[in-house]
This record gives sequence, C-alpha cells and structure tokens, in this order.
Amino acid sequence: MTRLSAITPSDRAHLGNHLGAVRHWARDGHPGDLYFVSDLHAMTVSYNPARLRATTRELLAVLVASGIAPDRLFVQSDLIRELGALTWLLECACAFGEASRMTQFKQKSDGQAMVRLSLLTYPVLMAADILLLGADEVPVGADQRQHVELARDLARRFNTTYGEVFAIPRAVMPRTAARVRDLSDPTRKMSKSAQDSTGTVFVLDDPDLVRRKIRKAKTDALGRVEHDPAGQPAVSNLLEILAACRGTDPRTEAAGFSEYGPLKEAVAEAVVEELRPIRTRALELLSDPAELDAIRKAGADRAADRAAHRLSSALRLAGV
Ligand code: ADP
Ligand code: NA
Repeated sequence: MTRLSAITPSDRAHLGNHLGAVRHWARDGHPGDLYFVSDLHAMTVSYNPARLRATTRELLAVLVASGIAPDRLFVQSDLIRELGALTWLLECACAFGEASRMTQFKQKSDGQAMVRLSLLTYPVLMAADILLLGADEVPVGADQRQHVELARDLARRFNTTYGEVFAIPRAVMPRTAARVRDLSDPTRKMSKSAQDSTGTVFVLDDPDLVRRKIRKAKTDALGRVEHDPAGQPAVSNLLEILAACRGTDPRTEAAGFSEYGPLKEAVAEAVVEELRPIRTRALELLSDPAELDAIRKAGADRAADRAAHRLSSALRLAGV
C-alpha cells in the first residue's frame, strides 16, 4: 500500500505546514508512504527560478530534519523526464472538457495577467505523479479531491483502452491535525502565499523573529483567554498552537491564562522549542551541500526505479 503526499515550494515551510502535516508525516507515517517536494507544481504561476531552486532545497532539508525517512522522500523535478512523458500519455487520454471542469483552475486563473496553459493541465501532471509511482491512496483536502478523481478516471480509461498498467488511486482524508491560522488575520489559514508574512511563522525563522511575530499577533477585544474559535478566533488560534506544541488540549491551556501577554510568551517559547531541533538540523544540512545532494540523489534514484517498469509498459501499450 502506497500513500503519496506532496508539499509545494511556492514559498518557505511554515508553522501550519509543520503542525498540520509534516510533523504527522514524520511521526505516524506508514512504511509505504512517499513524500515529495512538488516544485513543478510551483511553476504554474509566475515565479523566480533561483528562488524556486533555493526553496525546494530548503524544503527538502526541513522534511529530512523533521524526521521523515530520507528513503521515502524525493524532489518532483528529479523525475521530470518520466513525469513529462507520462503527462503526455495522460493528456492524450484526457478530454479538453474534463480538464476545463476543474474548479481550482477557475479560482486560480481569476485575475492573472497571463494564465499559463500549465495551470489548466496541472491536474494531469498531478495524475502523472500519482500513477507513475503506483500510489493507492492520496491524502488531500476538499480542494484537491476533484484532481484525484481525474487521476482515477484517466487511470481507468488508459487501462481499458490500452491495457492494464495503472493502480487505481483513492483520495483519502488527511489525518486530522491542527489547523493553524494567520497570526495577523485569523480569518485565513497560515499560508506560504500570504502577502504580508508577519502573520506567518516560518520553520527556519530565527527564534527572536518567531518571538516578535507571536508578540505582535492579533488578539481579540474581549480581554479573556478562552477557547472559543467562533467568538475569539485570534486567541483560540494561539491556544491551539500552544496545545499542538505541548501535546495538550486548547481548553486545558485556556484555564492556565487570564491575560494575553503571558499567553503570547508561553506560545512563543513553545513554538521556539518545537522548531529548534528541526531548525538546527535543517541549517546543518543546508550548510553541507554534499550530504543533502546525496539524500536527494538517492531519493530520485529510488523513485525512478519504482517508476521505470510502469512507464515503459505505458509507453509500449500506447504505441510508442
Ligand atoms: P500552503 O497552503 O501553505 O501552500 P501546501 O498546500 O503546500 O501549503 O500544504 C502542505 C501541507 O501543509 C498540506 O498537507 C496542508 O494541509 C498543510 N497545511 C498548509 N497550511 C496549513 C495550515 N495553516 N494549518 C495546518 N495545515 C496546513
Ligand atoms: Na482562561
């Protein structure tokens, strides 16, 4: 059983990625799990090449430093030849109308000066990611379920038209983990793409910067410390972050505080301690290119080995 998850290096890894996903990937991963840094997916909108390369490397270092086994990790672009070939086969099995119906395309293309064709076809690349590696399960949020459905349809259609080659993947609910909200605007989730990054704590932020961001976090006007996500979203977010770091419950944490100052100090220290070992190890890896390169190369070779037979069968069945 293979379960495939990805993280896109559209910007640097943040506390939401860590508490919501990466920490759980490292702690409760299955032996068959695979993780990749989806740098090709970051190219569907305007981006800076040097920055993409740096962010991809940093994200790989953070994933390794977080405790994900290096042999379950790879960088998507290291398989660009395999993925490019399979994407073409799948595009030839995909109807234009089918690709045009993806609701995420409509949201993401809205207001863009130039809509890249790759933004339309990116779900087909995602299908190639899934099918190339023979993933059985793909943990995705609601916004990506439609894409996994497309991967299923393309796999079935290819198998029926040309011959059995692909496993049929299933979308599964990601393990429920903390939802971290933006520190300056708790109405939205903490995100890499937030315009103003003062509300985003990055995994590799210097401890003093983490403390400053948390001290400046928005609070509510009520002056109480209670876990009430609807009535007090900002304070509840801080309590949830604290509870996630300490492995406790936000309501229990709320009982220990009556003022915002001490709450923020406690959150800042808990986050600094939570991120400290990851930051230390990631910076070590980033300062030693040879070690990180070796990890990356081994991951790429393993993923390519895994893909080779399936890709050559698909090419042969499709007549090329
Ligand atoms: P982003 O939304 O910042 O672009 P990704 O879409 O690459 O992040 O998500 C990588 C993983 O991190 C996903 O499993 C996603 O659910 C998780 N994640 C992202 N942001 C948050 C958040 N604010 N709180 C909890 N989990 C998050
Ligand atoms: Na309280």
